[in-house]
Amino acid sequence: MDKSNVPEHIAIIMDGNGRWAKKKHMPRNYGHSQGSKTLERVCEDAYNMGVKYVTVYAFSTENWSRSEEEVNGLMSLLRVYMKDAIKKSKKNNMRVRIIGDITRLAPDLQESIRTLEEASKDYTGLQFQVALNYGGRDEIIRTVKKLSSKVKEGTLSVENITEEMFSDNLDTKGIPDPDLLIRTSAEQRISNFMLWQLSYTELYFPEVLWPDFSKKDLEDAIAYYNKRERRYGGV
Ligand code: FPP
Repeated sequence: MDKSNVPEHIAIIMDGNGRWAKKKHMPRNYGHSQGSKTLERVCEDAYNMGVKYVTVYAFSTENWSRSEEEVNGLMSLLRVYMKDAIKKSKKNNMRVRIIGDITRLAPDLQESIRTLEEASKDYTGLQFQVALNYGGRDEIIRTVKKLSSKVKEGTLSVENITEEMFSDNLDTKGIPDPDLLIRTSAEQRISNFMLWQLSYTELYFPEVLWPDFSKKDLEDAIAYYNKRERRYGGV
């Protein structure tokens, strides 16, 4: 594949884990655990194809309303992932950042996140973002509050609030907006993911359920992206 035609940043809504598990008469958390394996493979494939940034929706602000068993299962998966990722990020030169409000997560998980972000901050390979307790509206509100406090304390004047400076105060500070969003399982919704950042992003909704998402599916997504005319800015 010609790397010049590859999107620089792919955002992914990993949907369909529950349905995938149900089809196999297995608990939903089995779907999430297979989904996390798929995610590792997709990161590797994407990077090898020339993608520089991958951002995934791992746990939304709305996901707390799922059953206690499912929330606990997802939190355990994330705990294991954050610990393992310290070694894996070093091996793969991968930088990991979390977007979302992590203050609602268990203290040990917050600690692992901080350790991982710090340990991987200079790695120049894949730039990998995990959205955790993330909601696009929540992120925008947190940013508005941050800027309002600066206005109130006199360190920012209202006239200086621009799109660029607003972007610089989002969780994704320093990360270019996604070029391509993939949401698996044929659901055609954004579901409160990266609302500000997806303004000009190409959207792709394959039918495959996330645990089955293959290298071929990723190639198809990139081929779709290449067929689209970029009409409103971007490259
Ligand atoms: C949506 O499928 C998926 C999620 C809410 C969780 C995604 C999390 C992972 C793949 C694993 C954890 C991530 C990391 C970074 C280790 P769904 O449960 O809504 O599926 P359904 O629509 O078929 O019910």
